[in-house]
Amino acid sequence: MAEIVQRLWRHFARQEPFGKDAPGFFAELAERAPVVRFDGMWVISGYDLVTRLCTHPGFPMAAPVFQEDVRRDNPQFVRFFSGTMSVRAAEEHQRLRSVLTGAFSGRRLAALRGRIDEVVAELLAEPLRRGEAEFVADIATPLPARVTAVLLGIPPADRDLVTARATGMMNQLAAGFLAEAHPEAGPPITAAEFAELREYVAGQLARRRAEPADDLIGHLAQAQQDGKLSADEAVDMVLLLFMTGLDTVTAALANTLVVLSERPEIAAALAADEQRADRVFAEAIRLRTPVAFGSRQVTHDLSVGTLDFKAGDTVILAFAAANLDPRKFAEPLEFRWDRPITGNVAFGHGSYYCLGSALAAMTAQSLLQAVHHRLPTPSRPLAELPWRQSLAFPTPRVLPVTFAPALAESGAR
Ligand code: HEM
Repeated sequence: MAEIVQRLWRHFARQEPFGKDAPGFFAELAERAPVVRFDGMWVISGYDLVTRLCTHPGFPMAAPVFQEDVRRDNPQFVRFFSGTMSVRAAEEHQRLRSVLTGAFSGRRLAALRGRIDEVVAELLAEPLRRGEAEFVADIATPLPARVTAVLLGIPPADRDLVTARATGMMNQLAAGFLAEAHPEAGPPITAAEFAELREYVAGQLARRRAEPADDLIGHLAQAQQDGKLSADEAVDMVLLLFMTGLDTVTAALANTLVVLSERPEIAAALAADEQRADRVFAEAIRLRTPVAFGSRQVTHDLSVGTLDFKAGDTVILAFAAANLDPRKFAEPLEFRWDRPITGNVAFGHGSYYCLGSALAAMTAQSLLQAVHHRLPTPSRPLAELPWRQSLAFPTPRVLPVTFAPALAESGAR
């Protein structure tokens, strides 16, 4: 078996976590082993096939399989996560997705930009004053949590508790399904906390029905009143946004910083012109794709090109590798200013394309523009950083940084 395929299995067996060298590994995988098959499992890394399967009706998203203890101790959570819109049958998925698509309208997002800039300014104030921070804990983690709270319309007094519960849900997911060794992860949400959280969200929806508001919970309350989704589905959607919109953005922001620190000339170009933020973010998440894999379950025996899939096969779509496929991206490991912003699969492709992509890009733009003149750089070598053990998120778990001195300060020296 080719060495690259053996490495892939070592990753899946968790004997070798992804780390600083993830891009080199994924680029080699896409080039040398674009299709790997092992028993009932496939790993697809070639860009063309990944995008083709993302739009193929025979490859719906796989429902997670939770470990026995989680099924026993937290059945409500398992029910929720095993029934989110993404893993429902195609028609149901489309019905629910169309409700959310409306909620992420360009108008609503544009109206959020000023609020996101405020959150960014608040989070940066202390780190910029000190000249240092632990980027993941101080900035990249609280930023998407607060942005999601603003998007949904969670009252400020409740935000810390709701964020803590959202983190508990992610810890539960990491422990019970991704089986992620995550020593610093806090405790998983308990069954009682999860029940309370559902009640809280249901209460917020009821409040919006009584007093309509132009936030995302208000939008879902309206959709519920219009008969487009049930009360439970509305609650599930709010919880889903907390599950999909936090870790992903945290990883994307941390990876962007890593990409910039590896390429000082790109950091200098951004420092000189904040308008480059969007392009920097797009290339950064292509090079170090935050959500490395998607997962699909084959519904019935079928063939795609020369490949014969069997009903029940699991198909792993390696977005992180497809983004480095040399057949699609010339010089895949190079940061290139002339690459189109769209076209990479960091946000997926087709039927399940990320609904929060524009919000995530706006959040990154706001942060990069706010610090472009004082870009933080890692204060420890990348090879020494602890990286997340997760297969899904190849990203540093901790990222201590220092901020370049403000111009006035450096001029005074
Ligand atoms: C940079 C940050 C983000 C990345 C890299 C990312 C990545 C992805 C990817 C790869 C998928 C498709 C998964 C697949 O096909 O298997 C996806 C789906 C999704 N994302 Fe994101 N995401 C990000 C941020 C967000 C945010 C901020 C939200 C919402 C607040 C969000 C909500 C969703 C939802 C709801 C889906 C499922 C769509 C469906 O089932 O139709 N994401 N995301």
